[in-house]
Amino acid sequence: MAEIRIDTDRETGKRSDMIYGHFLEHFHRQVYGGLYDPNNALSDDEGMREDVIEAMRRIKVPILRWPGGCFASAYHWKYGVGRKRQTVFDKAWRVEEPNLFGTDEYISLCRKVGCKPYICTNAGTGSAEEMSDWVEYCNLASEGKYAGWRIENGNPDSFDVKYWSIGNENYGSWEIGAKRAEEWPSLVKESAKMMKHVDPTIELSAAAITDVDWTLNLIRACAPFLDWISIHEYWDMMAEEHKPASYDVCIKYCEDVGHSVRKIRGILETLGLEKQIKVAFDEWNLRSWHHPNVLTVKQGITKEEYILPRDKNDDNSTYTMADAVFAACFLNEMNRNCDLVGMANFSPIVNTTGCIYSYPDGIVLRSTYYVFELYVRHLGDIVLNSWTKDNEEAGICCADKKAETGAIDAIATKFSGSDGIAIAAVNKSKTEHIKIDINITNKNEKTESRSVLLNYLNGPSADSYNDVGRTEIEIKQKSFGIFKNGMSITLEPHSVNIIEIR
Ligand code: AHR
Repeated sequence: MAEIRIDTDRETGKRSDMIYGHFLEHFHRQVYGGLYDPNNALSDDEGMREDVIEAMRRIKVPILRWPGGCFASAYHWKYGVGRKRQTVFDKAWRVEEPNLFGTDEYISLCRKVGCKPYICTNAGTGSAEEMSDWVEYCNLASEGKYAGWRIENGNPDSFDVKYWSIGNENYGSWEIGAKRAEEWPSLVKESAKMMKHVDPTIELSAAAITDVDWTLNLIRACAPFLDWISIHEYWDMMAEEHKPASYDVCIKYCEDVGHSVRKIRGILETLGLEKQIKVAFDEWNLRSWHHPNVLTVKQGITKEEYILPRDKNDDNSTYTMADAVFAACFLNEMNRNCDLVGMANFSPIVNTTGCIYSYPDGIVLRSTYYVFELYVRHLGDIVLNSWTKDNEEAGICCADKKAETGAIDAIATKFSGSDGIAIAAVNKSKTEHIKIDINITNKNEKTESRSVLLNYLNGPSADSYNDVGRTEIEIKQKSFGIFKNGMSITLEPHSVNIIEIR
């Protein structure tokens, strides 16, 4: 059994909706053959899959990072605009890039979805000038060559792209144009200077990592220009070998899902910058992408060695309740750190290890998709200082066995625009139903007139998954009548739950 104690007066902060953000990279079938599928009857007149766009709208995607990822570090944006697109060889992923989906198409996609654009620039083979030319193309009204080019390409109005990041994982040996810690700050500073000279209203991030040398040097040199720093993390590393970790192993990964944020917070607080610079966790996923023999010194020679294996990412049986439970624990942690984390981007939104899987005749909503639907639709935006106490002495629950301590990961929230409380409670136990007691500790909180609705995500087993013609995981609802302080709700094993008291 566990107890959730809530004090509605103790607010941690207001979370940004951008912590429910997403990411789209030119990799495998995320863009070509995924979101951009011009020959498919399900696509609109710009070649974009309307079913994918509708699914993105349904979870109110707030911001979409593009075009990469490793792809970005060898990408030259000018080849992807205008009437004559340049087909190039993508040296990151070693495939031909037709450049048919470029900046204009990306902005059009963001407008269809209703999300903010967030562009990752090329700090690998690119330059400060190329990055700032991109800001000219997107954001200047009409001055100069690049804004004029945008107008010529049929977009008279500025794209008004507010969020930009300089580089992607440039600290990594795998990255095209990787940088040393001592050289990174000068490139970031000069790029940031030129980009802000074009449009001082943009918000800038730069690739960072929980490595003191890299990040301390970056922030010391560039703090005046930076509004964000970007970090990435994957836990079940499948890049070289497609062997998805089991439910039990994935739950272990939940144990300290916030360690990177904690370390970055330490660095920012040491410099007294935790109020000026926010964290963009702009790539995260339990499962890393599978792409053997390409981000390593050893490069695949045959397509079987490095291209064909990428299809293994499309195996929907990989994405089970483990992915949903992990994603919910991660989002809980980002909510808890909403004073510092202003953005997080699930990596990616469609295909590969994403929450939406597209195939020629439709889409599959994987388990993680529903976590976003639950959090975006039912959880509040004011995060409360709540905590969960595992009542170990009792520990008796339905299965008549001692509930696993620490099995419940929960946060409490309220709503800035209306009354009510909503609790996100994850039961990580693979086998145990766990009863939670809900105690609202402030006496003046009027709860007697509120009803209790449980929205929960689950499947028949911890290894359930959705696939074409197979829906094992979906959101269900259960009403618990009028709220009484101290009331208990029993959570199913391996389930993600939002309890609304409204
Ligand atoms: O596996 C995909 C890659 O993960 C992204 O392109 C990169 O940013 C990260 O290393």
